[in-house]
Amino acid sequence: MRIQVNARNRGYDFDALPGEHILYAGLRAGIDLPYECATGTCGTCKAKLLSGRVREEWREAPGKKYVRPAAGEFLMCQCVAEEPLTLEVSKFVYPIDTGACVPRKAAGTLRAPRALTHDVMAFALELEEPREFDAGQFALLGASGVGAYRAYSMCNYERGTRRLDFLVKRKPEGGFSEWLFGANRDGARLEAFGPLGKGTFDPALGKHLLLIAGGSGIAGMRSILARAARDRYFGRHRGWVFFGVRSMRDAFWLDELSVHAADVEVTVALSEQEVPAEATRQWPRLRFERGLVHEVAKRAMAGKYHDVRAYVAGPPPAVDAAIRVLLLEAKLTTDNIRYDKYS
Ligand SMILES: Cc1cc2nc3c(=O)[nH]c(=O)nc-3n(C[C@H](O)[C@H](O)[C@H](O)COP(=O)(O)OP(=O)(O)OC[C@H]3O[C@@H](n4cnc5c(N)ncnc54)[C@H](O)[C@@H]3O)c2cc1C
Ligand code: FES
Repeated sequence: MRIQVNARNRGYDFDALPGEHILYAGLRAGIDLPYECATGTCGTCKAKLLSGRVREEWREAPGKKYVRPAAGEFLMCQCVAEEPLTLEVSKFVYPIDTGACVPRKAAGTLRAPRALTHDVMAFALELEEPREFDAGQFALLGASGVGAYRAYSMCNYERGTRRLDFLVKRKPEGGFSEWLFGANRDGARLEAFGPLGKGTFDPALGKHLLLIAGGSGIAGMRSILARAARDRYFGRHRGWVFFGVRSMRDAFWLDELSVHAADVEVTVALSEQEVPAEATRQWPRLRFERGLVHEVAKRAMAGKYHDVRAYVAGPPPAVDAAIRVLLLEAKLTTDNIRYDKYS
């Protein structure tokens, strides 16, 4: 199906496959259409229908609160074309940068699922073909019987890899997470679409790195740390990691973070528990602080924001609170704050 998009700066046209969501078709064609979550919650992919007919795949999508259906507005990530379409996107749209990884579909096998805590599980997706992605990106994953795609950040970083590592926090009654936690899924087939996301890190950045993660938000940070370590980035730049969890029961990857603590300062922020003495004994390279992760980061980072790029990920309230600190206290410019809201 032919789709014409009139953006503020120029027009684009591309084809969508039958049943393909308009956003994914555009991205697959190398057009950097606006999006954040790519899964119906943020409203960033809003477009206006000028001609043709679209079908909504998820009528209750939370992102619909940002669109006015009466004015012909809809979410490109949740709609498919029923006829050739002409759309208006009220943003500047550019082709995906040459050299960047253009998203596309892939299939693979779920391997080595393992519990990291009572409600966090890690697994690998072994792809049929190698894929490129940038550190800090995410993919959409679909499992048979679960329905729509869910967004999960890659935790590893490797060029041209067939293995993508993921971390999934269990969501009560969540379709994908309950499917994953409900039985041994080793060997299950998954569909993926990606890579996606602009919270990427490339060593050419040349700035100090501040990584603030709420809970499962540490997933993408591990990818950034892996990329930086590969390039010995922290031989030239400073780095700080703040990992927020409720209590030690919710903490994971502390051995792995201890390895990175040779290069960067890693602080674990406990929001609902005093720091137990055995934590500092068991992980002497890590710092432990009591408090919400954005408050702990704010205290520790005062006066250290010169030439810093910040990455933030996790539950939306934690991300919003951290962004407020980065804008109001740190006075970072918006291009130096990259975030993913795990909504
Ligand atoms: C960029 C990004 C990166 C993320 N990375 C991670 C990560 O690394 N680890 C992690 O644990 N979490 C991550 N999340 C959050 C994660 O995507 C959600 O927690 C996850 O979608 C929950 O899925 P669920 O099936 O368990 O819950 P559910 O409540 O069943 O599903 C929640 C999500 O699934 C989609 N969905 C549900 N029903 C429908 C429907 N009928 N049609 C279409 N879509 C539907 C929507 O996106 C909805 O928000 C990330 C989120 C984003 C946006
Ligand atoms: S990108 Fe479509 S709602 Fe977030």
